[in-house]
Amino acid sequence: MQHPAKRHLWLLPILVLALFTVLWLAGGDGESGPRMPGDADHDPGQSEAECLVCHSHQSFSPRSVQHPRRDDCYSCHTDAEGRLHPRLGAPTELPGGWPDDPRLNPALQDSRSTGAGDGGHG
Ligand code: HEC
Ligand code: HEC
Repeated sequence: MQHPAKRHLWLLPILVLALFTVLWLAGGDGESGPRMPGDADHDPGQSEAECLVCHSHQSFSPRSVQHPRRDDCYSCHTDAEGRLHPRLGAPTELPGGWPDDPRLNPALQDSRSTGAGDGGHG
């Protein structure tokens, strides 16, 4: 006679497979973005603020509007070898980053244009 719980053991491999599928989807390229180039500009020893010197909306290599709205670069972008260098407690919003980007913030856009129109505040 079998223990009743053992009758459901066949479910276990299916659940494990489902779990791995979810983890694989969550960790896939769609979330983590492209690797950084292997040059000195992309040394993972520097701060995220230094990344924004070149990759802020004002600079010559801005991130696309579709980019995830977070400034903790090292949580997602690996080095050229594919290694992640996450920094615990890195701020997700930095000066010069997404909060300051007028492409994403209608209030900032208004203050730059002629001022007529909706006149909405925050
Ligand atoms: C939450 C994860 C995440 C964080 C944090 C993040 N990125 Fe990204 N990044 C991505 C993804 C995903 C893409 C691909 C976006 C796309 O296909 O439009 C990307 C693309 C890029 C690109 C290529 C241009 C583009 O917009 O597609 C650059 C450059 C870049 N990121 C720089 C940075 C910098 C600099 C920071 C920190 C200030 C940063 N990223 C923070 C996920 C992230
Ligand atoms: C001195 C300017 C400069 C700095 C600083 C800089 N980048 Fe870049 N970055 C570039 C340029 C220019 C490119 C595109 C040229 C290339 O692909 O080699 C690039 C490419 C990238 C890409 C690949 C984009 C793609 O579509 O493949 C990512 C991701 C990225 N940078 C993230 C970062 C992160 C994160 C930092 C901070 C550690 C950083 N960058 C610092 C100038 C810079």
